[in-house]
Amino acid sequence: MIITPGYGMAVAQAQYPVAELARKLRERGVEVRFGIHPVAGRLPGHMNVLLAEANVPYDVVLEMDEINDNFAATSVVLVIGANDTVNPAATDNPASPIAGMPVLHVWEAANVVVFKRSMAAGYAGVQNPLFFRENTQMLFGDAKQRVEDILRGLDALDAPVPEMAGTSR
Ligand code: TAP
Repeated sequence: MIITPGYGMAVAQAQYPVAELARKLRERGVEVRFGIHPVAGRLPGHMNVLLAEANVPYDVVLEMDEINDNFAATSVVLVIGANDTVNPAATDNPASPIAGMPVLHVWEAANVVVFKRSMAAGYAGVQNPLFFRENTQMLFGDAKQRVEDILRGLDALDAPVPEMAGTSR
């Protein structure tokens, strides 16, 4: 799994549950890494600061150039409140206002889940064809709330199954 955060993670303050999700999945044996675009967020190093604040280990936080060749061999990408930085139009639509901008190649993974509240455009104001790809699913809502939902789901999987009255195993 690769997690690619963007400005929406900062707005939602989702870095804490995102860090917790990464920790829990790693405990279960999932290889989880973060892919950081150089201009993700609104400030230089914005995502790195937020992830460090949430105690994500540095060795799993990789820069775009380090991780971009790894998406094709990745099962799942979680795009947490990122938009322009994961827009394939930058690579395949010469007419796009962001044509030529280097982006994270998230669409090369087997499955992509995009966490955001709507189909709204990002900072650059351009539509993102990633949202309409066959291997993309949109998970609408506030990123913090949605990640917390997933954490509750994982906790429920770990909870002991209650004995049903009148049955024996
Ligand atoms: P953006 O393209 O800005 O997109 C962020 C997305 O986050 C939005 O589409 C928004 O969609 C979503 N979002 C907002 N609040 C959310 C919430 N509470 N929960 C879930 N999603 C939420 O993000 P990016 O990929 O990080 O790209 C950064 C952009 O900013 C680039 O265009 C870059 O050039 C520009 N920029 C960067 C900097 C630096 S130095 N980093 C400085 C100035 C400008 P919804 O509204 O649908 O939720």
